This record gives sequence, structure tokens and C-alpha cells, in this order.
Amino acid sequence: MKKRTLLSMAMVATMMVATFAGCGGSREGATDTAEQPAAETTEAAAEETTTADMPGFDAGATIGVSLPWLGTQNWKEAEDMFTEQLAEAGYNPIVQAADQKVTQQQQQIESMIENGAKVIVVGPVDGSQLGSVLEQAKEAGVYVIGYDRLLENTTGVDGVVQFGSVKTGELQAQALLQGLEEKKGEGPYNIELFGGGPADPNAPNFFTGAMSVLQPKIDDGTVVVVSGQTDFTQCATVDWDNAKAQSRMDSLLSGFYSDKDIHGVLCPNDGIARACITACENAGQEIPVVSGLDAENESVEWVWQGRQYSTVAKPTDDLVKETIEIINSLQAGNGMPSTSVTADNGVIEVPIYELPPVVVTKDNAKEVFANDPSRLDLLK
Ligand code: BGC
Repeated sequence: MKKRTLLSMAMVATMMVATFAGCGGSREGATDTAEQPAAETTEAAAEETTTADMPGFDAGATIGVSLPWLGTQNWKEAEDMFTEQLAEAGYNPIVQAADQKVTQQQQQIESMIENGAKVIVVGPVDGSQLGSVLEQAKEAGVYVIGYDRLLENTTGVDGVVQFGSVKTGELQAQALLQGLEEKKGEGPYNIELFGGGPADPNAPNFFTGAMSVLQPKIDDGTVVVVSGQTDFTQCATVDWDNAKAQSRMDSLLSGFYSDKDIHGVLCPNDGIARACITACENAGQEIPVVSGLDAENESVEWVWQGRQYSTVAKPTDDLVKETIEIINSLQAGNGMPSTSVTADNGVIEVPIYELPPVVVTKDNAKEVFANDPSRLDLLK
């Protein structure tokens, strides 16, 4: 197993500006046993886009969108928004989700190629398992854009649109520490750590970003991981399955907290946050300070009610719009927009179009969702 290292990065996306520094995470525990590629993200001199070998295509072309699953709100939103916004832009969208199954996703992408898609947008189930089908797409002259997750171990990718994943983890851990101070007074604080699905390239990066903030606090004794489980492999949640997270939390509570209070839980997304909160309630614990991700409706309500301390907003609408801008550029024969950030996906340097995630607590929720009427509506 190899370490993924994310070097310092700073970039201007076509819509927003994001700056952060951090380092990578491990891919131990990924579903495949093959050697994982290093995923280095670096700041490079803005490259001139070469459009000569990136011819445009028909304005009404078919565009494929292959999503990993619809198990969290962000993916469901992506399904709806791509379907609607690609059609509005004049394209013929084929939008499908793969139910966390690599083979199903490979087949869906193959059929998109057969159906003449000019661009295929891919949020991979497993970042490193689509190599050959994406290379097949490339050979057929199809442009491939990674969506929300890096496409690893393949030359078949033209760029990836995503929110900063190490930055997301940093925000989660900073919010956790802030909440602990605010709600529990002085440390030491008893906490537990959760990671996301090990096949998802974001998950180790979220964890690494979070540990870069938490490790110094563990080292100086402010924070105590009572179970001692601090490796990504021990903390990961296969398939981002909330039930698996809840049962791990149940075991941690019965194994380590029968005579102790738990004060905080690092959670990589909102579904896992709610599962851990529920487990704590079931065990008769006071609700600990819990981080999250996605600003799912239910968690926005929980944050507002004070049940979940924080979430991180990564607006799907912005990510979909950014992706469609890139598709429009390709359609017009202008190639990929230029960007100063690239990620080493193990085989090539992939251009990255990155947007900034935003932490949400009860204090700033109204501000963050000022332009999101459906979430603003939940704050009452
Ligand atoms: C996404 C998160 C999502 C998770 C599980 C990650 O790759 O970035 O928004 O919660 O997958 O679906």
C-alpha cells in the first residue's frame, strides 16, 4: 500500500478561488488489492490549453453522467441537476448511477460510449477501477471529466471538478475542536474518529486533512482517542454505509465508554454523523460534538437544533455548473479551460478545477445558506 501525498496547492477555478495547504492520506483498505497510485496535487504554472487535438462537437450532443450511487443527498442532487441543466443547455443527457458497484459503472460507461456520448462525466465508485473503460472512451474520442472524486490510475481523464478534499477534512477537525471548546469547556476531550468509504479517493484525503489538525492535539493530550483507533483503515466505513458506521460506534461505546463520557466524534459526512449521534443517544450518552459533510437537509435541521455541531457545505449546484462550463468549452472547440492545479493520478498529471468547501455551524448557517432558499427554509 502506498501513501498519497497532497502537496501545497492554490488555484483559481473558473468560478471561485480556493487556497489551501495540506498533505495526503493512505489508501490502505481500498477495495482492490492492487498497488494504489500516488495522488499528488501540485500548483503548476498555468498551462496553455492545447485545443488542436480537442475538436468541438455538435451543440445538441449526447452527454453521459455516471454517478457512484444515490445514497447521499449530494449525488441525488447531482442526478437531478445534471439532467435538468444539461437539457437546458441544449444537450441530450444520459444520467445514471451505479449503486456502489464497479462492474455496473463500467457497463454504464461502455453503453454511454456506444450511444455516442461526446463527454462522459464520472463520479467513480472506486477511483482506481475504471482505467480501461475510460481509456476506451478516450480512444473513441470521448472527453472524460471526473466529478467530485479523482479518477486514478488511468490516462483516460481530461480533468476533474471537485471541492478541496484535504481542506474539507481540515474544516471538519477545526469545527470539532471549536465545538469541544464551546460545549465541553477545557480538555482533555474523549473522541472517536470515522472515515469514509476506502474505495473513494476523497475519503483518505478527508481523513488526512482532519488528522493534520487533530494529531498535534492528540500528541499534547488535549484530545484522547479512547479506543486508540487512529489509522484510516481502522476508522474507514466501507461503502459509506451509515449502518456500518452505527454498528462500529455501538461497539466503541460498549467496549470503551461504559464508564466514560464521549465528547466528540470526527465524522466524514452527514449520514455517518447522524448514525453516530443515534448510537450515542441509544447508549445513554449526552450527544457529543460531531462534524459532518454535505449540508444534507436532515443534518442542516440537526445543526440548527443543536444535535449535530457542524457540517460542511459543498454546493452541488456550483459543481454541476462548473462541469457544464467545461463541457461548453469543449463543445465550442476551446478545449479544457486552463487551471494551475494538477493531481498525479498515478499515471498522468490531471488538471483539477477546484471549489472551496465551507464549514457550517448554527452560528453561520443563515449566512452560508443565504442564497439557498430550500436550506434556509430548514432554519426555523
Ligand atoms: C463525497 C461526499 C459524499 C460521499 C458519500 C464523497 O466522495 O464527496 O459528498 O458524502 O462521497 O457519498
